[in-house]
Amino acid sequence: MERIRIIDSKDHVGEKVEIDAWIANKRSSGKIAFLQLRDGSAYFQGVVVKSEVPEEVFELAKSLNQETSVKIIGEIREDTRSKFGYEIGVANIEVIGESHDYPITPKEHGTDFLMDHRHLWLRSSKQHAIMQIRNELIRATYEFFNERGFIKIDPPILTSSAPEGTTELFHTDYFGQEAYLSQTGQLYLEAAAMAFGKVFSFGPTFRAEKSKTRRHLTEFWMMEPEMAFVEHEESLEIQEQYVAFMIEKVLENCDYALDVLGRDKEILKGYTELPYPRITYDDAVTLLNENGFEDIKWGDDFGSPHETFIANHFNKPVFILNYPKSMSPFYMKPHPDRDDVVIRADLIAPEGYGEIIGGSERAIGYDYIMEQLEKDNLDYADYAWYLDLNKYGPVPHSGFGLGLERTVTWIAGIEHVREASPFPRLLHRIYP
Ligand code: 4AD
Ligand code: MG
Repeated sequence: MERIRIIDSKDHVGEKVEIDAWIANKRSSGKIAFLQLRDGSAYFQGVVVKSEVPEEVFELAKSLNQETSVKIIGEIREDTRSKFGYEIGVANIEVIGESHDYPITPKEHGTDFLMDHRHLWLRSSKQHAIMQIRNELIRATYEFFNERGFIKIDPPILTSSAPEGTTELFHTDYFGQEAYLSQTGQLYLEAAAMAFGKVFSFGPTFRAEKSKTRRHLTEFWMMEPEMAFVEHEESLEIQEQYVAFMIEKVLENCDYALDVLGRDKEILKGYTELPYPRITYDDAVTLLNENGFEDIKWGDDFGSPHETFIANHFNKPVFILNYPKSMSPFYMKPHPDRDDVVIRADLIAPEGYGEIIGGSERAIGYDYIMEQLEKDNLDYADYAWYLDLNKYGPVPHSGFGLGLERTVTWIAGIEHVREASPFPRLLHRIYP
């Protein structure tokens, strides 16, 4: 007899198989018991009919507690009434490990309770669906960049540079020297792009942000491509192709997960149509001013309501271009015709999900970057290696960073970024 995973049921209809699983839920009457089974790959129902199994098997089925692990033997059948489409007619059950008083019951629980039990909450079908989508985005990222000749470079996590501002750093002691957890791999990727042309990284990044919003984590994963000989316009095209590619792959490979989450697939399909609209920061300020956001002035950072308005206005992901230099990191290329803006774009997701990509063409020129470091009070000595890149054949280059959890949150259509991470790190939360 073959041991199979639930997800592969379609290939075993009519066969007697063995499945190792947990009891996610159970309903029973005098004559029949329905076991909601989950084995990590999917969820489906096991049907135990009293008249078809030995008395002790039926009694065992009725006594199983939530999350008991079991070995099930039975026959795979089609089940047209369920979304999944298959079930197992149970012939025998063997308990592998018992479970008592599982804290997460089918009733509603508060967020704090669920977050305290994240190690168990992950077993729920909603969390399962979200992690499937997260996995698909990761898989699609490797496919997209590998197909286009990028090589993956892993920047360090322990670092002495702070390109995204010094106020949001996790400090650590590095054998007596001050070090930080990386906010971005970007500077290292720029060096790598000068060695390998097209590179990307995918790894954890850290921001000691005191923000308690539905978009902020203190530890999140970022996809960061960096490309030599690429100016900003070309980078924007790669960004939108990449985002559309991820959505296409989710539509192709995560149909069931999207159903579990109740995500509207037609809306997602709309986001695969390119190009994405673009608006300059200047025009975005005007648009906001004309639509009831009189408080926003040129030079202000956009908050969540502003970004939400702009993206909903276009009903698509939208690039906001050419931000004020005063609110941008030191490494961005100054606009060739204007002193006050830089060649930067943020990609804002629609439906209120906010910024998912930050990108720019990078500044080149030893003296210019020296000046910018000074302005930002960054110690030249920590960036000497980065400045070196300007001495040995500097070239135009661009790159961007896409936040994985924010993208998952948007594509899955969920409420809060905390559910897009298996074990989220948030302000005031490092347990479990
Ligand atoms: O816009 P950011 O800060 O850009 C950079 O770090 C660049 N150095 C990237 C690059 O050009 N290589 O961050 C990039 C993205 C944001 O658009 C957002 O999606 C995500 O990272 N992000 C966060 N996600 C969750 N929680 C936070 N606290 C985040 N901060 C940024
Ligand atoms: Mg940003």
